[in-house]
Amino acid sequence: MLEALVLEPGWAPLQRLDLDWARRAGVELAVLRLDLVDPQLSGNKWFKLSHHLRAAAASGASGLLSLGGAHSNHLHALAAAGCRFGYATVGLLRGHPVETPTVADLRRFGMELHWLGYDGYRQRHRPDFWAPWLERHPGHYPIPEGGGGLAGALGCAGMVEQVRGQLGEVGFGEYDGWWLAAGTGTTLAGLAIAEAGQRAVYGALAGPPSHRVAAEIDSLLAQAGQASHPYRLVDASRDGFGRFDETLARFLFETERDSGLPLEPVYTAKALLALRTFLQEGGLERGTRLVFVHTGGLQGRRAAEAELRRLGT
Ligand SMILES: Cc1ncc(COP(=O)(O)O)c(C=O)c1O
Repeated sequence: MLEALVLEPGWAPLQRLDLDWARRAGVELAVLRLDLVDPQLSGNKWFKLSHHLRAAAASGASGLLSLGGAHSNHLHALAAAGCRFGYATVGLLRGHPVETPTVADLRRFGMELHWLGYDGYRQRHRPDFWAPWLERHPGHYPIPEGGGGLAGALGCAGMVEQVRGQLGEVGFGEYDGWWLAAGTGTTLAGLAIAEAGQRAVYGALAGPPSHRVAAEIDSLLAQAGQASHPYRLVDASRDGFGRFDETLARFLFETERDSGLPLEPVYTAKALLALRTFLQEGGLERGTRLVFVHTGGLQGRRAAEAELRRLGT
């Protein structure tokens, strides 16, 4: 069942994105709507998961095992995939039990949850981390945090083809580069691998700048046999991962109103706000055509809605 259905990510429409600040900077934008790929396997997740799921199917796994936080878009998509395609799923969660809309969905999708605390979660990079969990859940296939690694990146490479196939339809012509939110940098690495150095890829960092993301991207590029790429990371974190302020909340609501594009505060609104700042500072030449990737994550907005409205309206 999994083999037949899940292996190709769904289709993401490309749309023109008309925002006054981009127009003023002479930059044309289109948006790749990964949020519309699937109601549950939404955003970059199906792309990041597709090669992992293919490997799980090929290994004859009976279940899927992965980790994330209480708002994790990755665990949400994985649990939905397991539920849809008949795979048991086990989620290892950061911290202590807490009820969030995401956690409620994980349970509804049938995911078995284990809360690791914060120290326990920090052990996840140890080589012996998975062994006891695989002993406890024999036949389960472990998928790295966030669906990362080379398999995750290679799944994301498919986005490039989807954009190229729609440029004519939306009258966008050739594009010069990509702009997207970066967490681990896996999605960015996938785009960079597929572009093979031909176009710039800008990653708007959702978390505080550190060398970790660039190191991860460089490692993924090297594993894919590619050395240097015109990718660039820009700080979009606004004082920390998952933090948001009045400026961001107002920007989110204004952009939604002006463009009709639904956003969430952790990745997509931060990435677009960072693009606005970048353009205001003259970061791109007039006439540049950029594809903004809407990486999804809208399910995670539910927990932030009240705070967003308090700050932004
Ligand atoms: C909605 C959303 N956008 C962007 C990202 C960042 O993706 P990556 O970790 O591949 O950089 C994530 C995390 O996976 C996400 O959930």
